[in-house]
Amino acid sequence: MPVKTIIEPFRIKSVEPIRWTTREQREKLLKAAHYNLFLLQADDVLIDLLTDSGTGAMSTHQWAAVMEGDESYAGSRSFERFRSSIQDIVGYKHVIPTHQGRAAERILFGVACKKGDIVPNNTHFDTTRANVEFVGAEAVDLVIPEGRQPSLNHPFKGNMDVAALEALVQRVGRERIPLVMLTVTNNSGGGQPVSMENVRQTSALCKSYGIPLYFDACRFAENSWFIKLREKGYSDKTPKEIAQEMFKYGDGCTMSAKKDGMANIGGFLCTSDDLLAQQEKDLLILTEGYPTYGGLAGRDLAAIAVGIQEALEEDYLRYRIASTAYLGDHIAEAGVPIVQPPGGHAIYLDARLFLPHIS
Ligand SMILES: Cc1ncc(COP(=O)(O)O)c(C=O)c1O
Repeated sequence: MPVKTIIEPFRIKSVEPIRWTTREQREKLLKAAHYNLFLLQADDVLIDLLTDSGTGAMSTHQWAAVMEGDESYAGSRSFERFRSSIQDIVGYKHVIPTHQGRAAERILFGVACKKGDIVPNNTHFDTTRANVEFVGAEAVDLVIPEGRQPSLNHPFKGNMDVAALEALVQRVGRERIPLVMLTVTNNSGGGQPVSMENVRQTSALCKSYGIPLYFDACRFAENSWFIKLREKGYSDKTPKEIAQEMFKYGDGCTMSAKKDGMANIGGFLCTSDDLLAQQEKDLLILTEGYPTYGGLAGRDLAAIAVGIQEALEEDYLRYRIASTAYLGDHIAEAGVPIVQPPGGHAIYLDARLFLPHIS
């Protein structure tokens, strides 16, 4: 029987009041903001669909970790907690904290890319594309054709077009491609997932040409959940086991901890390459901070260490995706086009599409 009522798998013990507005007031406020949502005052917003980024409530365990945060400049206990929690999931040797995902991107592309290079991705997120282009490289989106048709139903619309990737490598030459990226889930393509089979195929192709594969891992936990639900052979695996397998096929990742890190701020960059890690840490010191805090407070590192594990909990993922699909289905029923409503999750992107503005 289909589940009609979605019960949150958590108790809410803290609330923040929001101000009720009338339709008339909202129309006036939107007009005054020239329909640019970034120009609205948050206090005037009743239901905020601007972003899913860093806006969630933290858990009791995260708040407890915040209180235990170690603010020592070097050798902080919170960094050790952060590193071991992330390594437990991604398995990469170096974990470099940054203040946001885009800072991790800037450091990765600043070190790995140069003018004239090409970076393929299923779809670059806007900050990722900007950071690739900032170093004079070209960002190429190679999502499968199904991923470009919003109304089409396909279980893994975020998949990389592996044949197109191979054609690109052959056309421009391996030496112009310093790395390939897979964004999981594919945020700028409607938050659509990437299958493990596609990860495996992309990884095999990259390996055959000696090109490192990186994940933009912002929604790695959600992606694991979709693999569990939709891909043969994964229904008995936990989201954590699925995530661990996925990261094994790559060489590193960038992450916005404001997504599946469940924190209000933070990010990180991972690699198993010692030389690259050293160069990245050198750049980090110039702009973010020492490699054991990367621009974050010890309490932020501690909150991420806890949040990234909690994001993989099945009850939470089931609730999250079911409630998002519920909202998506109702928006679709109201006649508003959204990206693949049934079981999908694309509300964040859709809100952006309906109310055009640039982030
Ligand atoms: C897929 C993806 N990559 C990178 C980023 C950038 O992360 P941050 O906002 O933490 O800089 C985001 C943020 O929305 C994202 O969704």
